[in-house]
Formats: sequence, C-alpha cells, structure tokens
Amino acid sequence: MKPEQILKGLKTKTFGRNLICMEEATSTNDVVAELARQGAPEGTVVAAETQTKGRGRLGRHWASQEGKSLTFSILLRPKLHADELPGITLAAAVAMAKTLEDFHFRPRIKWPNDVLLEGRKVCGILTEMGPKKDRMASVVLGIGINLNQSSRDFPKELREIATSLYRISGRKAGRARFFQMLLLNMEETYRWVAERHFYKVLTQWRERSSVLGRQVKVTLGHRVFYGQAVDADEKGALLVRNDVGIIERVTSADVQTIQF
Ligand code: BTN
Repeated sequence: MKPEQILKGLKTKTFGRNLICMEEATSTNDVVAELARQGAPEGTVVAAETQTKGRGRLGRHWASQEGKSLTFSILLRPKLHADELPGITLAAAVAMAKTLEDFHFRPRIKWPNDVLLEGRKVCGILTEMGPKKDRMASVVLGIGINLNQSSRDFPKELREIATSLYRISGRKAGRARFFQMLLLNMEETYRWVAERHFYKVLTQWRERSSVLGRQVKVTLGHRVFYGQAVDADEKGALLVRNDVGIIERVTSADVQTIQF
C-alpha cells in the first residue's frame, strides 16, 4: 500500500494526514509510540503489511496477512483523564462498525474492543497510553481488521472464531477505500470523546452491542463472576449486575456471553 493511494480521496482533517506505510514493523503501536516521543502530530498513522511482534489485549499475539488485512495505529493526544481511555476504544469500535455498515455488513461490538461479523471476530483494537500518568500525553490506538483472507489464510485454531469481509461476502474489499472511510469515521467518533460528547458514542454503541442485556462471564485476572451486562457508563466501563444484584463497574477484563 502506498500513501498516495490513501491520501487521494481522504476526507479527514487530521487522521492519516501524516501517513507512513511500512512493509514490515515490529508492532505499529510501537512505531507510533516512538513517533509520539519525537513530537509527531495528532492523527499520525503508521500502517504495516505485516508485524513481527503484533500484539493484542491480555498479551495475545496478533497476526496480519500481507495484502489481505489492514494493520495500523493512530497517534492521539487527547486532553482527557487516564480513566477515560476505555472511551477511546469504544469510540474506535463504533467507527469500525459504522464503516462495516457503509460496506453493507452487519457488525456487532463485543465489549470492549472486538468487532464481530456473524459472531466471529473480524477486528481487534488495542489502545495504549503513553508514559504520562494522569492527563494523557499520548495515546496509541492500534487497529487490525481482516479484509480479504480466505478461511485457509487463518490458522486452524482461529478458523471458527475469526472471520474476514471476504469470508462473509465472497467479494474482495478495496483496502484503500475501506481505510479512507474508516479514518473518516474514526476522526468523527474520536472527536465526540475528545470534546466530551461521549453520550454520542454510547448511543451508537448500545445499538450495536453484542453483550447488552445478555448474561456474561467476566474474568478479571483470577477473579471470575457472572451477571447481566446492563450498560456502559460515561467513561466506557461496562456495567454488570452480578448475582446478588449489585452493579459492578468493569474496566479491564475478558467478557464472554453465556448461552442458555
Ligand atoms: C485484540 O484483539 O486484542 C487487539 C488486537 C490489536 C491488533 C492491532 S494491529 C495494529 C496494532 N499493532 C499491534 O501490535 N496491535 C494492534
């Protein structure tokens, strides 16, 4: 992918205006973090065809197939408090879902950072904070989306739980156009967070959530509890009513819906 292909027709103000496309990176999140240290502007985007150390939440590995996925990170410099970070992840998930809808798919968002098509994961989001503790100096938002992989492109153990646009529709998606639309949608939903209109993200998230109203199993390190996902709050935390009726605020955990 060449920057010119993306920049031509890109309608954003800042997202992707400073764009670096690499063949291979360790992790685009690390490349952007380094650029942040060097003073790069908000909206800087680094995309890579493959990553040697692609990572997901909870220490998981993330694999990208050259030419078939979109793998990139964006530099943000929000004037928000650190505990508002989950809101950025939700905003990105909403932007991803809106983009998939623009391409006529019907996505669901699995709190906090997965976007699903037909119950399988099509996209992962990894939001990481820069060194400053309180007011966020920089945030790196990393996105991986499976566009044109066939089932054979996925390792066996992922075939049942991961999918791509191509597997769902049988058609190849134009990567440049998808990227442009995604950046535009992300810029919009990020602005909602940055300008403290988070309710707009929440409204959009509620309409697309795969967990709201469902019974869930919440894993917080070694602690596991069950309950019903009732809402997300103004900072993006998931609110779960536990077995004894108390609402627990979940900020960082693994959440699985339970089938009865
Ligand atoms: C997850 O599902 O747990 C999150 C996956 C995030 C993957 C993206 S790909 C671009 C960026 N660079 C990384 O190393 N990870 C994120």
